[in-house]
Amino acid sequence: MEHGGSNSRFELVPLAGGGWAVHDRAWGETMHPVAGPEIEPAALYVEELQLPQLWTRVESGRQALAVVWDVGLGAGANALAVLRSAAARRVRLRLWSFDLSLDALAFARAEAGRLRYLAGWESLVDEFLARGAFTGTVGAAGVEWRYVEGDFARWLAVDEPPADAPDAVAFDPYSPSCHPDLWTAEVFRRLYGRLDPSRPCVLTTYSRSNRVRTALLMAGFFVGRGRPVGVKEETTVASNRLELLSRPLDHAWLDRLRKTPPAGSGRHAGDAHRMAALSVWERLRRHPQFAGLRMSPARDQGAGSSGSGRSASF
Ligand SMILES: C[S@@+](CC[C@H](N)C(=O)[O-])C[C@H]1O[C@@H](n2cnc3c(N)ncnc32)[C@H](O)[C@@H]1O
Repeated sequence: MEHGGSNSRFELVPLAGGGWAVHDRAWGETMHPVAGPEIEPAALYVEELQLPQLWTRVESGRQALAVVWDVGLGAGANALAVLRSAAARRVRLRLWSFDLSLDALAFARAEAGRLRYLAGWESLVDEFLARGAFTGTVGAAGVEWRYVEGDFARWLAVDEPPADAPDAVAFDPYSPSCHPDLWTAEVFRRLYGRLDPSRPCVLTTYSRSNRVRTALLMAGFFVGRGRPVGVKEETTVASNRLELLSRPLDHAWLDRLRKTPPAGSGRHAGDAHRMAALSVWERLRRHPQFAGLRMSPARDQGAGSSGSGRSASF
């Protein structure tokens, strides 16, 4: 596959703590800008995403295959962190990476001398860039890694599955202010619709904004606070199982949301805006996460058996 224009569009920027990150001049955004492409992917898109627990479910035969969606492949740091984690385990992994192009990955590959997370992965990435896919063994893991080109929101809206329902979603597009269309309740509702209700799924993302958390809740997910990464105090975790969240958003969060004016509305915002925010809040109040229809929120390593913490329409 051809990858054009990456040298003028992307550049490496130094990180305060050492190392480099990829900056996209076209959107004015840097990938993993604070903690960097070695730390954030491992912390947020492997550990917080509960991939070690997913590998255990596959190794133990409770499920045949692990399916991970990598939304916003970019320079490949998350995808390679997923592969690095899987490589140590005897699992079958189907990893789908979504993006508009492979240009950022091609740029990163050309800069592998400075981007440490690519060290040792060059030939696999070369094959992936050439074919838009890689199938083979990676350490102990059997891997099918596939690139899905195009707008993820559109893919969710128009393409009927032959997609396997994901067990984990690394949700890492550019920021909500840059790409608001990817962070809407409608997109998350379609994503939720792609889940298999009988299988637990976890989604993690770097955003901690109330607007994003509200959109995830409105889509049917349970939503919790994710671990700090770098100087970011919190991230966000969502799931179709409340018991997979170690710090679910609670009533105090909901109360604060009610008192916070909706983003973008100033002091003189119209009644219609305020009424819309109130009606969203009323709907959230009936969400099973806040309505008392729930189990105690302790992480369940053996997830998959219980359906009692499952979200429902509300
Ligand atoms: C923050 S970067 C991803 C960084 C990447 N996960 C990594 O670890 O290197 C966001 C990526 O989302 C991609 N993107 C932007 N809009 C998109 C869309 N509508 N559908 C899919 N990907 C999109 C961008 O092209 C960019 O590569």
